[in-house]
Amino acid sequence: MSLFDLAKNAIFLLDPETAHGASIAALKSGLIPSCTAMADPRLRVDVAGLSFPNPVGLAAGYDKNAEVPEAILRLGFGFTEVGTLTPKPQSGNPKPRIFRLVEDEAVINRLGFNNEGHEAALARLKALETSGIVGVNIGANKDSEDRIADYVAGIRRFYGVARYFTANISSPNTPGLRDLQARDSLKALLSAVLAARDEEAQKAGRKVPVFLKIAPDLTEEGMDDITAEVLAHPLDGLIVSNTTLSRNGLRDTRQAGEAGGLSGKPLFRRSTAVLARIRKRVGPQLPIIGVGGVSSADTALEKIRAGADLVQVYSCMVYKGPGLAAEIVRGLSACLQRDGIAHIGALRDSAVDRWAAETLD
Ligand SMILES: Cc1cc2nc3c(=O)[nH]c(=O)nc-3n(C[C@H](O)[C@H](O)[C@H](O)COP(=O)(O)O)c2cc1C
Repeated sequence: MSLFDLAKNAIFLLDPETAHGASIAALKSGLIPSCTAMADPRLRVDVAGLSFPNPVGLAAGYDKNAEVPEAILRLGFGFTEVGTLTPKPQSGNPKPRIFRLVEDEAVINRLGFNNEGHEAALARLKALETSGIVGVNIGANKDSEDRIADYVAGIRRFYGVARYFTANISSPNTPGLRDLQARDSLKALLSAVLAARDEEAQKAGRKVPVFLKIAPDLTEEGMDDITAEVLAHPLDGLIVSNTTLSRNGLRDTRQAGEAGGLSGKPLFRRSTAVLARIRKRVGPQLPIIGVGGVSSADTALEKIRAGADLVQVYSCMVYKGPGLAAEIVRGLSACLQRDGIAHIGALRDSAVDRWAAETLD
């Protein structure tokens, strides 16, 4: 049994939220060794005006309060995303609110945007010394009277420190938040957020890209509506996807009834199928970050083949440990080497039709 397996067994005795806190503390303390993979120019991805050293990022929700972005980049990630951050601090839903479905290598969470708010995260982001890519994921307070204003506040507050923004309108754990995906609401949100971005860009002389993060639980019509609005605005990219409300195909029926969003391996098929459908709708130009159930170099490659420029990982790192990013990056390099491919971008969309034909059950 490896040292990681031993540590994992000990950590899995803790409840998931305590384990999460312990892992953040370990990263802060430097106890977790760096595992940066060798830089490989074939993996460098240039999208939305940013140059990502490799296409594997950490998804939002792990480092909600921007406590450990530098330590995460040292694990081999090509980029990391802090948040979701809301203007005011909020405690989220009652505990317990994170559940491990061990047999499925999945997680259900109903955290509800627990976070320390804009001010606390901004102070930490201002103190960063990294030149690595740290994105800021923004959301709305649960009790907000004007949700769109909360997103605009996020753009303005973090403009000087964010390398990119993600407007997260797809968490299932803030009642009504996903309604922002409906066509009229999305139009109002994108207009306000992108107008704020353009104003700040004028002042700063630097344009920070804005991505929109969507749910995997969309109907075909929902995808059509999102595509129409996205293409009508100067949005810089999409993140597909957040967690799902579906509980199909789970082995661990004991925890499956918990309310919240499901992530990890069982999300892979659905989120990749939605990714491919969206790629076919938006065309080749718009950057897309593929998220949901990435657990290996092979699954990361499938996301790219289904239409992703970049991928993000969260839940499978819980099961595979902090070395997962470096392992995926090494695996991607090995694949390009084996097949004589000059750049990872050459693989994008190579299985988009196959993935778009998958059913969304
Ligand atoms: C415990 C937990 C908390 C999360 N919190 C957020 C969040 O605050 N904002 C967000 O946009 N996504 C959040 N997510 C969703 C992830 O960023 C990601 O989209 C989703 O988990 C699918 O990726 P995965 O299967 O690799 O975990 C969270 C996921 C988990 C498991």
